[in-house]
Amino acid sequence: MVQAATTTNSKWDRKRMDELEQWVAYHRLQAAEGKCASYIPALRRADPTQLGICMIEPSGHKITAGDWEVPFTMQSISKVVSFIAACCHHGISYVLDRVDVEPTGDAFNSIIRLEMHKPGKPFNPMINAGAITVSSLLPGDTPEQKLDYLYKIFQKITATAPVVNEEVFVSEWMTSHRNRALSHYLKDTGYLDCEVEEALEVYLKQCSIQVNTEQIALIGLILALDGYHPLRGEQILPKQVVRLAKALMLTCGMYDASGKFAAYVGLPAKSGVSGGIMTLVPPTLKRESPFPDGCGIGIFGPAIDSCGNSVAGVSLLKQLAHEWDVSIF
Ligand code: DON
Repeated sequence: MVQAATTTNSKWDRKRMDELEQWVAYHRLQAAEGKCASYIPALRRADPTQLGICMIEPSGHKITAGDWEVPFTMQSISKVVSFIAACCHHGISYVLDRVDVEPTGDAFNSIIRLEMHKPGKPFNPMINAGAITVSSLLPGDTPEQKLDYLYKIFQKITATAPVVNEEVFVSEWMTSHRNRALSHYLKDTGYLDCEVEEALEVYLKQCSIQVNTEQIALIGLILALDGYHPLRGEQILPKQVVRLAKALMLTCGMYDASGKFAAYVGLPAKSGVSGGIMTLVPPTLKRESPFPDGCGIGIFGPAIDSCGNSVAGVSLLKQLAHEWDVSIF
């Protein structure tokens, strides 16, 4: 999918690969502190000891370690793509009239603020309430048409047609009582642009898109470059929309651990309950940086903590950011 550049075997590259392998072996042990998500029955069966990472540079060159090729479902990482898709179609102000940009400090599926703050506008597009609203805004009269629009954007970025993991979708569809409750509340307050079951179908199908770390690293790379696709040499997403998405990733992407992640890692990121983390390093003027031209990073480690973030993944990112001195601050 992504063409490797000719520098693949350089000494520097070997060093980065070796370091990454060592860190993955070490942080894999941290997974014991977490558990695979069990509220979606199909996610329970993942191997909690898995940990993999893929980093992609603008040249297309990849650095990988561990279980980087294992497929997993995007879950909440998809919220970034659907937010971008909705903004591309309607424009930023239309979308932000219906969903705010404020962090909550609450759990990703919390309902409490919707009723506490009238008129019930969801706080941000990274929590479930905001993401379901955004899914309902995607263009089209049916869930199929809305998903089709989203899939086209996914395909534009990754050059692969999205595949929905039907087992995960059905498993969540059958047990999604809290998301249904959120959707009914949003319908009541006028924040859904379609019927409850339609919005839920779009949202849960986007969450069930199957990816591996390479695909989410590629999305991260395009975000790092403000919507520019370096392998195609083309601006594929509007810069202002991508910048807004990155601000939301930084402030809300790791849910009630977003502050700690910004403090200890310092990169915009988005997690999913299946154990994925999508993050990125923007280009820097510091040419001695290991990634001066920026990179996208995809992580998979299915044992998650109580906030819904991969335990081993976060711990690996803390070390990587510290050792390689990458931070947006
Ligand atoms: O709606 C849900 O609960 C899941 N489909 C996605 C939640 C999620 O990934 C939260 N992230 N850490």
